[in-house]
Amino acid sequence: AIDISKLRDQTGYVTLDIGYKNTGATKSAITFLDGEQGILKYRGYPIEQLAEKSSFIEVAYLLIYGELPSAEKLKSFQYELSRHTLVHEDMKKFFDGFPSKSHPMGQLSSLVSALSAFYPESLKPSQTTEELNQSIIKMLAKMATVVSWIYKKSLGHPVIYPQNKYDYVTNFLHMTFGQRTEEVEIDPVVIDAMNKLLILHADHEQNCSASTVRIVGSSDSNIYASVSAGISALWGPLHGGANQAVIEMLEKIKEDGGDTDKWIAKAKDKNDPFRLMGFGHRVYKNFDPRARIIKKACDDILEKLGINDEVLEIAKKLEEVALKDPYFVERKLYPNVDFYSGIIYRALGFPTDMFTVLFALGRLPGWIAQWKEMKENKEPIGRPRQIYVGATSKEYVEIANR
Ligand code: ACO
Repeated sequence: AIDISKLRDQTGYVTLDIGYKNTGATKSAITFLDGEQGILKYRGYPIEQLAEKSSFIEVAYLLIYGELPSAEKLKSFQYELSRHTLVHEDMKKFFDGFPSKSHPMGQLSSLVSALSAFYPESLKPSQTTEELNQSIIKMLAKMATVVSWIYKKSLGHPVIYPQNKYDYVTNFLHMTFGQRTEEVEIDPVVIDAMNKLLILHADHEQNCSASTVRIVGSSDSNIYASVSAGISALWGPLHGGANQAVIEMLEKIKEDGGDTDKWIAKAKDKNDPFRLMGFGHRVYKNFDPRARIIKKACDDILEKLGINDEVLEIAKKLEEVALKDPYFVERKLYPNVDFYSGIIYRALGFPTDMFTVLFALGRLPGWIAQWKEMKENKEPIGRPRQIYVGATSKEYVEIANR
């Protein structure tokens, strides 16, 4: 076998693989994914078991530190997190500068990057294990507060401060849906669905944003700058923006009169570029294991909340028809995780442009785990090569002569 690490500094051969479709950039022990068989495992544990039995913060610990925590370790992890949920008061001033309708993903990447100004100890390139750990705890703890504040500010409501008596997810929901004047009780079904959604999005190996976090971190950039870059990568509609596209499509179908048969026919028509958003997946070719889990949570939450929303009715109808239609069955086009996550976020009352921000909140432990692994592996700075195809020899021409 070839020892890739020995080839690291050798030059002379360049592999051209635009989009890195077949090029491994690292060895990783975090997430295993088999698209043919629909398998997804974090640190060896099947996603189905984690979604069923774990909390989001337990899964975050697993991804970041490599093993499920003991009860005692989980307690101290939660305690540490709860001590760092406050963000510097001056961070609120940023909101005065953002136009009220600015996209929450732009706000999130700016705010996360700005955290480095308030917590400069994270700037030290070679941190001790304890310092690194503190940076990780702060990043995780403050993210939930920043995300909920972005939501509150978009409504023009006052922000809600974190309360240490709550666990991570309940605290997030409390800061998001709570009010200053009264204690709001969050339905356990909502807490459960949110935990599941965040767990299912927590990592997906070397995708665009995870690779971005690793490559930015490989120049010894601090955790906030690295995560902020991951947020920017996730923002794109080809990556994290798909759940927003699902709801936008459903709204379009509703405005058009709600005739799902017509839109399914459009999706099947090879002369029409329209595709059913939230159906099919590049990697999962039999089923998306995350979609199976989230479909159940989606059904539970719609029933529990007694939601009466035409857009969600259209979603159910589309799902029903497409799952039986030979076109979709033959091509193995099943609803993916984005189909259901968008529906749940809408049922919970989140505006569409917050969906990708919630994806980022869920993906954060994965980004942190990837960043930490890259540091622990002492990986060299990421620096792809190229095949130069430009001009080779030109003489400078004075501007008057061009
Ligand atoms: N609606 C209608 N037909 C579809 C759909 C769809 N959503 N998805 C695929 N098909 C058809 C294609 O037209 C093609 O048909 P053909 O064999 O007759 O030519 C066949 O199914 C295979 O499709 P491909 O495009 O080759 O599949 P690919 O793996 O390249 O695409 C993708 C996967 C991009 C996810 C695609 O299914 C799609 O566009 N889905 C809708 C968008 C979406 O939901 N994206 C989010 C995915 S989750 C994520 O990546 C974060």
